[in-house]
Amino acid sequence: MSASQQDRYRPETRLVHSGTLRSPFGETSEALFLTQGYVYDNSAQAERRFKNEEPGFQYSRFANPTVAMFEERMAAFEGAEAARATATGMAAVTLALTGQLKAGDHVVAARALFGSCRYIVEDYLPRYGVASTLVDGTDLNQWRDAVRPNTRTFFLETPTNPTLEVIDIEAVAQIAHEAGATVVVDNVFATPLFQSPLALGADCVVYSATKHIDGQGRCLGGIILASEQFIQKYVHVLLRQTGPSLSPFNAWVMLKGLETLPVRVRRQTDSAATLAVALADHPKIVRLIYPGRPDHPQAKVVQKQMRGGSTLVAFEIKGGKKAAFRFQDTLKLIRISNNLGDAKSLITHPATTTHQRLAPEQRAELGIGDGLVRLSVGLEHPDDLVEDVLTALEAV
Ligand SMILES: Cc1ncc(COP(=O)(O)O)c(C=O)c1O
Repeated sequence: MSASQQDRYRPETRLVHSGTLRSPFGETSEALFLTQGYVYDNSAQAERRFKNEEPGFQYSRFANPTVAMFEERMAAFEGAEAARATATGMAAVTLALTGQLKAGDHVVAARALFGSCRYIVEDYLPRYGVASTLVDGTDLNQWRDAVRPNTRTFFLETPTNPTLEVIDIEAVAQIAHEAGATVVVDNVFATPLFQSPLALGADCVVYSATKHIDGQGRCLGGIILASEQFIQKYVHVLLRQTGPSLSPFNAWVMLKGLETLPVRVRRQTDSAATLAVALADHPKIVRLIYPGRPDHPQAKVVQKQMRGGSTLVAFEIKGGKKAAFRFQDTLKLIRISNNLGDAKSLITHPATTTHQRLAPEQRAELGIGDGLVRLSVGLEHPDDLVEDVLTALEAV
């Protein structure tokens, strides 16, 4: 389907058809091109391909037909001019940031970041002479005050992990652009179905495709989406020369995952909202966080920039770590795992897993109490999930 044809269709349709490269066999389901290299008809053709005088594939570290289908389909869904797939979500984040930065530059990032993203900003970039400042992402004044003459990029994740805080992308993008900086948004929690950072002013959006895009707990992957110019200038060459590429097999899994993403994510979000209702006034719960509820701390921003709630619910159980562990260990259906966006419902205790690297005061600053659990809601029947959660709370 050509780009102009794609524009006619709604997102669900694009997710089934966009980017398909059909082979001479006319297959209905997209082919898996499990190949490292490509052969040329003759020497002159090889020369033309290497000089970029003729379109075509050369080597799967930087281009492969199955990977290209995944990139093209994601770009059509996101409304981005270009995309590059990576081996993991962390490879996407690292590439999107390091591709733009050099020694002497400065980054401003929201401090409520996924642990490895925070490592990149706080520990990894400074090793190469890139300074960073962490701010409370919901406080626009902090973004403004953190800007320095050498600030090159802003980085944020929204909703955040694990407290589902929501950051105003449009307002932050405005501050960044006034300062001559770019904005990179990690859109993993919102999914492309419910939030479009590029349309809100971001310059680049990254995903861990490992999460809702695969959605069935099989493969790791990542993707970077931006303008053609951004991708060419900051991403393509670095991906080609350093090689954190997505395997064609994983790209094929992701590509097929995209076909069912809206159906899965909508169902999981509806079930998460049902669970939030069941838990909201529970006597053993101190705090419930769910984007989409009027009591969410940034409810107005959610309404402004998101088209749906979340497949995740976070809640704090009375009694701290002991109570949270007892609750998790009593669950029968919901399994303990730090992953998210899976067909299976998964629960994690951030203070002792994903965020254990942080000092207790840093966790407190982020609202990660010892009783907090993060539940990623799957595709099970919502009544079974509610029953599992309420039964486990009785044991606390
Ligand atoms: C918000 C967020 N960003 C990035 C990542 C990294 O993705 P991956 O595990 O695919 O490297 C994750 C999860 O692991 C995540 O939750």
